[in-house]
Amino acid sequence: TRIFVPGDTSACSVRANEVASAIAAHCALQDIPVTVVRTGSRGAAWLEPLIEVDAPNGRYGFANVQPEDIPGLFAGGVPSPDHERCIGIVADHPWFAQQHRLTFRRAGIIDPLSLSDYRALGGLVGLTRALSLSRELIVHDVTSSGLRGRGGAAFPAGIKWNTVRQAPGATKYVVCNADEGDSGTFADRLLIESDPFQLIEGMIIAGLAVGASRGIVYLRSEYPLAIRTFERALDVAYEAGLLGPSVLDSAHHFDIALRTGAGAYICGEETALLESLEGKRGVVRAKPPLPALSGLFGCPTVINNVLTLAAVSDVVAMTGREYAALGHGRSTGTMPFQLGGNVARGGLVEFPFGVSLRTLLDDVGGGTLSGRPMHAVQVGGPLGAYLPRTQWDTPLTYEHLAELGAMLGHGGIVVFDDTVDMAEQAQFAMEFCAHESCGKCTPCRIGSTRGVEVITRLRRGESPRAQWELLEELCETMELGSLCAMGGLTPMPVRSVMKHFPSALLSSPSRTS
Ligand code: NAI
Ligand code: SF4
Repeated sequence: TRIFVPGDTSACSVRANEVASAIAAHCALQDIPVTVVRTGSRGAAWLEPLIEVDAPNGRYGFANVQPEDIPGLFAGGVPSPDHERCIGIVADHPWFAQQHRLTFRRAGIIDPLSLSDYRALGGLVGLTRALSLSRELIVHDVTSSGLRGRGGAAFPAGIKWNTVRQAPGATKYVVCNADEGDSGTFADRLLIESDPFQLIEGMIIAGLAVGASRGIVYLRSEYPLAIRTFERALDVAYEAGLLGPSVLDSAHHFDIALRTGAGAYICGEETALLESLEGKRGVVRAKPPLPALSGLFGCPTVINNVLTLAAVSDVVAMTGREYAALGHGRSTGTMPFQLGGNVARGGLVEFPFGVSLRTLLDDVGGGTLSGRPMHAVQVGGPLGAYLPRTQWDTPLTYEHLAELGAMLGHGGIVVFDDTVDMAEQAQFAMEFCAHESCGKCTPCRIGSTRGVEVITRLRRGESPRAQWELLEELCETMELGSLCAMGGLTPMPVRSVMKHFPSALLSSPSRTS
């Protein structure tokens, strides 16, 4: 019998490796015939370590298993579905069954480094089709799918690819932005640790579409396990002829190299990332020129987030039109949302765009972990807005959030209960910007530090009206005058606190840090 034990960072942080060793040791001693298979994670962080037992009708799950549980769990041999710790067939469990898994459909199910597992669940179908299409037709599929940049900016991927395809230049690059810096997001990591060939496949398709034979993945150094998994996946891909001089025996040459960041949030901004890849300090470049025309070492470059490139294999496999049928309006396809913070059932969930925030908070998230009332929800990372209760019925699409002065970003959703100090959260946004600013432009470099000071004075109750006006003016200056999204978006969470939680800023004279 196969026993599946997750091996991604979140499961390992709650002792999944020890659980796997304990199962192997116990079963060897007791002569219980099992094979332990290490998978990635299905994303249910609240159930980890979630071990699964193969059965003819599916896989039975056992949640939150710890090494000391193993002798009891395996007392009568392989754990049976009648065991009190069993949560039933995992795929039928409501937390999973209500989702629409596309990009993450293999995550937690396959051995991330097994190409045969990958193929068995639909892997390489998109690439095989792409190899039979012209560049124009691949780009046409991506354009007609409506796929938009999943890193946060939501720029149409097909338009970006077309610009690179048409740009003159003998050398072009495909760069994958895996510098997932937004707090509360972990989808890129989960994909790389659970299904790395999907990213590799998407990058090869991008190379085919634009005429590039070199890809680079820029992966943050804070993800050591993702780095190791991806390095091994590259080795497997080269050995299998998926990468190298003739991709799947075709005339297409494609190489992928891995580079790691050094911990600067700004290196997730595409031009700072390019500077970093070129061996320079991670400072933002002025645009134009767009990286699509003059990117890495001055060559036309596709830069896409992990999730965008991962979605491409499905887009091409199922055709752009079919992909576009999923989702809502101009927000097509599915989105991996990451539920975190003070939430009972946190983790990664995938739904078509248009699902309401309330569904994610209540039906999926199950309310707060603390059991206290939910007070605010930050959507879109540290530069995203705090949404009050009245906005939780919003359908999650790029357009609906923009109407609220908010953004979906990379899909991070962080929950706060009623003990949160919203003034502190507003101050944190400015502190974060002051810490992470690359320093190139004044509104961000100086503005963020002034912002911390103004909010501090507001929180002390010093001339509140004057400070309030100053803060509004500062927010406007940063929005309009910053060179990149770091300074330009920092006012978003601040303004949302000013608009929806004004009393927190105006009546907290004692709580300054
Ligand atoms: P942007 O709107 O300047 O650009 C979006 C993308 O489209 C870029 O790759 C740009 O080069 C490309 N582009 C624009 N016009 C084009 C054209 N005509 N042809 C071809 N390509 C074109 O946004 P930016 O500054 O790249 O990203 C900002 C977003 O990043 C924010 O909205 C935020 O949500 C997100 N973000 C994500 C983080 C993460 O951890 N994933 C961290 C911080 C921010
Ligand atoms: Fe650098 Fe901030 Fe200006 Fe962006 S907005 S270029 S991070 S100083």
